[in-house]
Amino acid sequence: MSSETVLQRSERPRPPLPSLPEIRPLQLRDRAPLHQLLTKDGLFTREEVSVALELLDGALAEPGGEYRVLVAELDGGLAGYVCYGPTPMTDGTWDLYWIVTHPAARGNGVALALVARMEGELRALGARMVRVETSRLDGYGAARAFYERLGYPVAAVISDFYRAGDDLLVICKRL
Ligand SMILES: CC(C)(COP(=O)(O)OP(=O)(O)OC[C@H]1O[C@@H](n2cnc3c(N)ncnc32)[C@H](O)[C@@H]1OP(=O)(O)O)[C@@H](O)C(=O)NCCC(=O)NCCS
Repeated sequence: MSSETVLQRSERPRPPLPSLPEIRPLQLRDRAPLHQLLTKDGLFTREEVSVALELLDGALAEPGGEYRVLVAELDGGLAGYVCYGPTPMTDGTWDLYWIVTHPAARGNGVALALVARMEGELRALGARMVRVETSRLDGYGAARAFYERLGYPVAAVISDFYRAGDDLLVICKRL
């Protein structure tokens, strides 16, 4: 190779930097793509999807109220959301009701960025604790690994809670 063909260090093509998810509050235009997202991998039952949509509608109707939603955008597309809210009749406890990321965007830190932003907002509000309820079924294995990685330990298990053979895991983190 001649010296002319050797690229200078600054001229060499570099691999693209991985994109960082952008986190922002829910907007009305997000509802339809989030509905699609909830049905993407068939994990949620029709009843669960309808409850998830009710929570989105609650968040749109009353920003800063019982249900709050942050969405993540990755490379200009909607990549996931988290829905959370203050747990009624508690002092400083919050529920993380729902978190889901687009199957094509998983493993890129989207859920991590959503929870980090949510926790930051909750700390600023003086929150003490976040509770999550999830199923022990195999389909939720990624969610369990995710919560473990974030330092959300399992606080309680109720066998056969959702239906026979489908246990409830209560996961709790002190902020
Ligand atoms: C659980 C879920 C939200 C994770 O979303 P994600 O954007 O892929 O998560 P992240 O990329 O931010 O992962 C953060 C960490 O969680 C862990 N994790 C996430 N998915 C995992 C998987 N499938 N297996 C093992 N660990 C996993 C990893 O430790 C990961 O960090 P690392 O990549 O540095 O190792 C996503 O898989 C999902 O939407 N699942 C279906 C819906 C669901 O179960 N929601 C929760 C119940 S409501």
